[in-house]
Amino acid sequence: MRKPNIAILGATGVVGREITKIIDELKIEFNEIKFLSSAKSAGTELEFQGKKYIVEEAKPESFDGVNIVLASAGGSTSKLFAPEIVKRGGVLIDNSSAFRMEKDVPLVIAYVNDEDLRKHKGIIANPNCSTSQLMLVLKPLHEKAKIKRLIVSTYQAVSGAGLAAINELTADTKANLAGEKFENKCFKKPISFNVIPQIDVFCENGYTKEEMKVANETKKILHLAPETPISCTAARVPVYNGHSEAVDIEFEEKITPDEVREILKNSFGVTVIDNPENFEYPTTRDASGVDPVFVGRIRKNLAFDNGISLWCVADNLRIGAALNTVRLCQKVIEMDLF
Ligand SMILES: NC(=O)c1ccc[n+]([C@@H]2O[C@H](COP(=O)([O-])OP(=O)(O)OC[C@H]3O[C@@H](n4cnc5c(N)ncnc54)[C@H](OP(=O)(O)O)[C@@H]3O)[C@@H](O)[C@H]2O)c1
Repeated sequence: MRKPNIAILGATGVVGREITKIIDELKIEFNEIKFLSSAKSAGTELEFQGKKYIVEEAKPESFDGVNIVLASAGGSTSKLFAPEIVKRGGVLIDNSSAFRMEKDVPLVIAYVNDEDLRKHKGIIANPNCSTSQLMLVLKPLHEKAKIKRLIVSTYQAVSGAGLAAINELTADTKANLAGEKFENKCFKKPISFNVIPQIDVFCENGYTKEEMKVANETKKILHLAPETPISCTAARVPVYNGHSEAVDIEFEEKITPDEVREILKNSFGVTVIDNPENFEYPTTRDASGVDPVFVGRIRKNLAFDNGISLWCVADNLRIGAALNTVRLCQKVIEMDLF
């Protein structure tokens, strides 16, 4: 197997740091690795696999000789550097939403739609965090009974909005407890002791962009018909890390809660915790810091024919961003696609 030269773009951010950790955990083999940021963090020292590296400011020349770039530096940075990376023969695995819905860009969750990777023309997109955790759960169920309709309600942690948002939850909570005033910057409303029914900006149809990402990305990844009805409500909750989702699915074919449990118990990347009589169901604390997508509260949905409801939690920084990015890198190496 060929070993690539790798660059982490956005290495000093929440997702970039997690990507760096997971490259080590998954034992990704590479020739050389470099860490890139904006001018702000350039010069920072970083330790990786017992060696010290200096973070460099990303410039077009930074990508000379780089085979695979794992980017988590925001959409505008990805748009700026994508042509430079592709021009130099590199493959960009991008965490931002900049390219996800472009026709020539595969949108992939590793172990769900790996074959789509073969269609890449230099850019591969990593789905939005709330879509990502759902795909490992929905794919095996869709294969068994075909999804007809989907309703998703998300309860999303602040880490999904970056380092500044994590710090804002701490500062706002302290100020609130001390009875002091606090000026929110990351969120439109105070995040401490609150639930905010807005993630990203509103679209003309009344949904937010985050909610439309869940609908559109799910259709692209699972190759569902464009007219498949999918509705999402996304809320930000005062949790540091780990997204939760209440999911209601109507299937074309009959499927029982026991069958769903059995299928998911045998599915890659999914752990079922579902014994409500003993209060056994997954919470965000179970999911934070580990790889599986946890599923529980599997039951017959009373509003749909052939309906199933379930509760799904996962670490949004891992499966929702960094873990899938590194798994995609692993697949690109294994499938010799760089
Ligand atoms: N957090 C999540 O759960 C999640 C999930 C999926 C996708 N994403 C996406 O991943 C990206 C990063 O998210 P994050 O939470 O890690 O944000 P973050 O903590 O704010 O980190 C941003 C990173 O990007 C770097 N950066 C910013 N502007 C740059 C530029 N012009 N050139 C080079 N590097 C630049 C920053 O470098 P400095 O240190 O120099 O500022 C930092 O390393 C976003 O696109 C986000 O939408 C995040």
